[in-house]
Amino acid sequence: DTVYLNGEYIPADQATVSVFDRGFLFSDSVYEVIPFYQGVGFRLEEHLQRLEHSLRALRIDLKFDWVATLSRLVELNGGGNLSVYLQVTRGSAGKRVHAIDHHLRPTVFACCQPIRDVYQEGADKVEGIKVIVTADLRWHRCDIKSTCLLPNILVLQQARELGAQEAILQRDGALTEGASCNFFIVEQGVLYTPPIGTEILSGTTRALILELADQNGIPRQEAKIDYQRLIQADEVWISSSTRAIVPVVQIDDYVVGDGQNGLLWQRMFEIFTRYQHQ
Ligand code: PDD
Repeated sequence: DTVYLNGEYIPADQATVSVFDRGFLFSDSVYEVIPFYQGVGFRLEEHLQRLEHSLRALRIDLKFDWVATLSRLVELNGGGNLSVYLQVTRGSAGKRVHAIDHHLRPTVFACCQPIRDVYQEGADKVEGIKVIVTADLRWHRCDIKSTCLLPNILVLQQARELGAQEAILQRDGALTEGASCNFFIVEQGVLYTPPIGTEILSGTTRALILELADQNGIPRQEAKIDYQRLIQADEVWISSSTRAIVPVVQIDDYVVGDGQNGLLWQRMFEIFTRYQHQ
């Protein structure tokens, strides 16, 4: 495995970062996960725009040629289907101090790992998942893709311990998103998802689903969704770059619809597949 670290493409086991790096000490750091299919970045521009948003929010000033760097990294890792992880931290001051020193040199790291191309494999290979609903314990800037993922990790673990694959989070009576995904519901042929704001991450897959819904005449709306609506929905989906669109067939002890992958899900999956192959 070759990784990128601060200007160098090096073997993963030779890549090291200072213990005083603010990413390590404070999670003073942001990230992206970008799928590459057959060596080509999927919605790369959208991911890079969101990265800019995160960096601006942290006031990390970085001029960087992501397209060239990530292309080179993917090439060095043999191309194909890979998810690229990238992380930018504020850097190291050589000691632990809370206050931000604007003169630090950001740490830039990127690595790859193989992913499945679920679109290539087809809709019948997709297994519906079970999710739990639990309290959203995160801060109020979930629009920033920060590496401070402890709440996300703990709720995922809670889900796993209950035999579920994902957790949908609830705050002030409304559902926000999953531990590492957005979610959608279908009610009588209409697609709903919570609106963008500081309570959720603006998912690139979410945005594409809404775009493709519009292009294909599928009615859709951004709306507050509560627990009752979720468990009574005809269909529930989750979406993320690494998992694509996955149907949810069970929420806590409630079966979604007839317990099978939904029809609108299947249609959207096929629309997505065509988009991805074009
Ligand atoms: N997570 N919401 C959260 C909290 C996420 O962590 C993610 C993605 C998403 C979906 O965003 P996108 O469709 O752009 O991948 C929504 C990535 C995959 C991760 O943390 O590994």
